[in-house]
Amino acid sequence: MRRAISLAGLGIALASVAISTGSVRPAPIKVVETYERKCSSCHGREGAMLDKDFEKKYASPSELREVVESMPGAIGMRSDELDAMMAYIRAVSRREPFVVWTGRQGDALLGEVSPATAKVEARAKREKLRVERPQSNQWRIVLPKGVRPEEVELTAQRGTLRTTLRLKDSPYSHTK
Ligand code: HEC
Repeated sequence: MRRAISLAGLGIALASVAISTGSVRPAPIKVVETYERKCSSCHGREGAMLDKDFEKKYASPSELREVVESMPGAIGMRSDELDAMMAYIRAVSRREPFVVWTGRQGDALLGEVSPATAKVEARAKREKLRVERPQSNQWRIVLPKGVRPEEVELTAQRGTLRTTLRLKDSPYSHTK
């Protein structure tokens, strides 16, 4: 009995650690890479062959989602993965730069940007962070000591179009 109680206590302790480290998480898929692999053969690199403002043809976001869900490349995608793909698709329709956080590697955050020509900047607590571009559609940021992912704000800019992503809100832009 005593052992059962102490295990329950441990469970509570672990749960509170999980809460105190914050709940921000990277996106469930590498969205841009997935698009290039599964969709670009028909719709062009970075969605180049999709019409500008195509989302306006649909009466509601759920109608557009149904179309994307029926795409050959979307078969077997989980609902949270499709959510992330829909965000990218909205950005393509608006011709706005898309930014997504896709993973962690030690102290570094890894992510993607589309189009590749967009410039990515990052800040945390007003301090500018250095952004590396390991590949044209990727970014990488080494977090300075004491900086947490939820404090990071990214901007992607191409021409006059600018997208801001606060990791405390979402791992990807264009959630609406
Ligand atoms: C084999 C070719 C093919 C592949 C692969 C494909 N699509 Fe499509 N897609 C089409 C065709 C054809 C249409 C137009 C017919 C329709 O609306 O069903 C379309 C329509 C769309 C539209 C609506 C565009 C508009 O102007 O209304 C979106 C958005 C879209 N696809 C996204 C995707 C995504 C995301 C993927 C990958 C997960 C994907 N497609 C994979 C052929 C493809």
